[in-house]
Amino acid sequence: MKKTSKTRKKRAAGQTVAGAKPNQPASEEENLHKIPLRITDTTLRDAHQSLWATRMRTADVMGIIEAIDSVGYYSLEMWGGATFDVCMRFLRENPWERLRQVKAKTPNTPLQMLLRGQNVLGYKNYADDLLDRFVALACENGMDIFRIFDALNDTRNLEQAIRSVKKYGGHAQGTICYTISPFHTVAEFVRAAREQVEIGIDSLCIKDMAGILSPISAERLISALVKAIDVPIQMHCHASSGMATATYVEGVRAGAGAIDCSISPMAGFSAQPPVETLLAIFDETSYHANLNKDALREQCRYFVELAKKRRPKQGPLSIIDPEILQHQIPGGMISNLRAQLEEQNALDRLDDVLAELPRTRADLGFPPLVTPTSQIVGIQSVINVLSGKRFAMVTQETKNYVKGLYGRPPARIKPAIVKQILGNEKPITCRPADLLEPMLPQATEGVAPKLIQNEEDILSYCLFPEQALGYFEWRALPPEKRPPIPADLEAEAKEEPAAPPKPEAAGTKAAAPPAGEPLLTPADYGALKDLLQTFNKLGLGELSIARKGVRVRLSTGKMAISAADSDAAQTADPEAEWLEPGPVAAAEAEPEPEPGAAGNGQTINAPLNGTLYRSPGPGKPTLANEGDEVEQGAAVCIVEAMKLFNEITAPCKCRLLKFLVEHGQPVKKDDPLVSFEMV
Ligand code: CO
Repeated sequence: MKKTSKTRKKRAAGQTVAGAKPNQPASEEENLHKIPLRITDTTLRDAHQSLWATRMRTADVMGIIEAIDSVGYYSLEMWGGATFDVCMRFLRENPWERLRQVKAKTPNTPLQMLLRGQNVLGYKNYADDLLDRFVALACENGMDIFRIFDALNDTRNLEQAIRSVKKYGGHAQGTICYTISPFHTVAEFVRAAREQVEIGIDSLCIKDMAGILSPISAERLISALVKAIDVPIQMHCHASSGMATATYVEGVRAGAGAIDCSISPMAGFSAQPPVETLLAIFDETSYHANLNKDALREQCRYFVELAKKRRPKQGPLSIIDPEILQHQIPGGMISNLRAQLEEQNALDRLDDVLAELPRTRADLGFPPLVTPTSQIVGIQSVINVLSGKRFAMVTQETKNYVKGLYGRPPARIKPAIVKQILGNEKPITCRPADLLEPMLPQATEGVAPKLIQNEEDILSYCLFPEQALGYFEWRALPPEKRPPIPADLEAEAKEEPAAPPKPEAAGTKAAAPPAGEPLLTPADYGALKDLLQTFNKLGLGELSIARKGVRVRLSTGKMAISAADSDAAQTADPEAEWLEPGPVAAAEAEPEPEPGAAGNGQTINAPLNGTLYRSPGPGKPTLANEGDEVEQGAAVCIVEAMKLFNEITAPCKCRLLKFLVEHGQPVKKDDPLVSFEMV
């Protein structure tokens, strides 16, 4: 991408092409005198992440990739963001393989990915060695342009990523996450952009993830940036509030040389504006995108058809989300808040949470709301409302954020809140990743060596341990023994949302496995666990699936497994079954422990609905064991709620007697988790 010279831009700004008739494309002769406008297609990444919950499969992509390659896009955003995680978790695909396959069919168009700076593709900071190898392998497999962002616009979190991309020959695109706050002035954005230019970015993206960048603000911001920095500027807007198309027009006139669009069947709503619309608009101006319209039509037809299969049944009702213009809360975040409140049986508090969220954000120093800060602020707001006392209970993520482990908050966090959350601990002042030891040497300790095939697998595992293991175990099975992929089960679940669990109505009758055989493989169980989570999130009633002789019944928070021909489904303890492989009969399932049965009346209870974990991650030791004497405030276990880990701590110095919930099992608010006696 070459920078458009300022003189040319001035001549072009805002002018229509002499002689061009309204709504008629300019002739080739006319196009010669136009300024090139570069269009990145986001259909294969952001658009399906925003509209289809990232459920597009590699085969879907490969069915149209050659036509897309012939459109003439500046680049194809097709990797990174949530695609990596979802590939393994829901599609049981290797994300690296998708990259290789697409690269092989796109000789004409550079590939582009979204990289979360030091967070790589995850939700926390990773050590420099992992980030560097990730970039190296991405380049080796064909990635060309890396759009690198940090949720806090903290340049220190971008440095290593930018250096690695340059080192391996990629195009490093820096990013400004656009947000509105008293702190986020044009001057502040320009300052952040200059810092990135100094490190060596090749271009800069204005990322408007919430769709709140107005045409007038875009004109002011881009004009100031064009004056201040000497790299090309690209705009990435979401159509959520309806302003994005107009914002692109003003931004391009002010000097942005590239914009992000998606193909019309996958545009609008919370995705990008449609490419066809922008083409028609710019055809009448001095800018020329030079796209092949026949190939565009082919791409359009393909996605109209694919949408019938992949679009979620319950999409947004309105093309414009007016909440955004009021609260400046991204649309995706509101649906997450709604799901989180549903999970906590508190949907009636949504208005309170929407009012609380801007306060929480201000108190935390006005972070832009984008992954992972959108989750941190969103969930903390929910907890602030549900617990009745602001910041009395904080997630580990909020604590880490206040401690500076995500980077420097844009504005100062209120000192009283820092004190309330950190006590006497002091926030760090260095680049967060400076505190991390190289992580690759011991990365896969505790994982069966046969599951890991190469360095790509190691990186996948470091970033998403549980999802990667689920995928590796599934992949290790002979194809005929692999259970259905979670995305297919999901689709089945959506077909019959509230079907009562009638054994004879659900699925085909299959012979039960021979006596003494386990009912499910570890991979089956992993897939079911993923499905159960989705199921709970969707708030579906009950569902019964029978396959390969096994019946699984799901209802909110519960999973029951039995042989398909058995009439009585029994609650099994699947986690224990698969950790210790061996014959399992459904009838042997242990009865659920009586709440508080083993204690002397004192129990630590769940503060929220969620899932109990005894250790902070796979392969990590348990936080505390039965019989341990623990100090007040010591971490005893974790309740994962709303995707975040809440450490559950001892209320006083005590001896732990008995854990009343197994590792990995769902818990409801106020369920007793562990009994104790005071010492
Ligand atoms: Co986006």
